[in-house]
Amino acid sequence: MNQASPLLQLKQLTVAPKKTPARLLVNQVSFSIDRGKTTCVVGESGSGKSLTALSVMGLLSKQLQLTSGQVLFNDGESGEQDLTQLDEAHLRKIRGAKIGMIFQEPMTSLNPVLTVGYQIGESLTTHLGMKGDLLKAKIASLLEMVGIPPSRANSYPDELSGGQRQRVMIAMSIACEPRLLIADEPTTALDVTVQAQILKLLDELKTRMNVGMLFITHDFGVVADIADDVVVMFRGQIVESGTKEQVLNHPQHPYTKALLACVPDAEGKNALKPIDYAWLPENQRSPQASNEILVAVV
Ligand SMILES: Nc1ncnc2c1ncn2[C@@H]1O[C@H](COP(=O)(O)OP(=O)(O)OP(=O)(O)O)[C@@H](O)[C@H]1O
Ligand SMILES: [Mg+2]
Repeated sequence: MNQASPLLQLKQLTVAPKKTPARLLVNQVSFSIDRGKTTCVVGESGSGKSLTALSVMGLLSKQLQLTSGQVLFNDGESGEQDLTQLDEAHLRKIRGAKIGMIFQEPMTSLNPVLTVGYQIGESLTTHLGMKGDLLKAKIASLLEMVGIPPSRANSYPDELSGGQRQRVMIAMSIACEPRLLIADEPTTALDVTVQAQILKLLDELKTRMNVGMLFITHDFGVVADIADDVVVMFRGQIVESGTKEQVLNHPQHPYTKALLACVPDAEGKNALKPIDYAWLPENQRSPQASNEILVAVV
């Protein structure tokens, strides 16, 4: 058993469209996640956060390719594996079993014609061969763990609220007791009260199950709530990373400072402030500026 290396290490991960390989959508991204810790990846829309997460799981769309890099995963049982080198069959075994995933819109990930209990049970049957009463009891305990009455196992997704559907997604993602959870903006579609409840739930599960979490958000309020470490992305590159305390209280990079200056305060001030790009050379300030010429400023 090798516990020495981090749970997940991204090394120089680079993603580009197959047709335009010079357009680096994710550019030399490196960071790591420890067991029982949450790393938040934060940045504006289009900065490459989701592509980074999809690369980890081997779920990039066919138009895109990993042009370089490694994704080293060490679950403490099978030794360290480079996920970029595994074939699809092998990856499918890891996804859902050792790596759980939670996405933004549960309605698109849940099947409307199957009960939520059935859907929570699917991965338990596939990965662990669970069935019968044991399966039923496990589904009930998972629902309870995420704060849904176990009797709702027989409900269909459209009979639940948005917050309950997100809780079902979380129950599905943790069913097989994964070592790593990847959550891509899991609370963006929810109102603030429900968002706070879901963040609290995820934080509790992290501690309880000692799971490492890759948590994607564009919201520094969420970062303040849930992160241990923070990675700031801008146009495909990491401009700054560190502990939450370092990045939020002592930001070094002008982009991080500009982003933080737009975080609304308690009265909602700053909410509509545009991000200040004065730190960029003039020809690179438009949001459409190409990733290729950015290299010089990071
Ligand atoms: N299949 C694709 N082909 C070409 N470009 C793509 C493809 N998928 C994503 N992109 C581009 O890659 C960049 C990064 O996309 P990504 O989805 O990772 O952004 P993001 O940081 O998750 O943004 P958001 O906060 O809006 O979810 C964007 O400019 C996007 O347009
Ligand atoms: Mg995204």
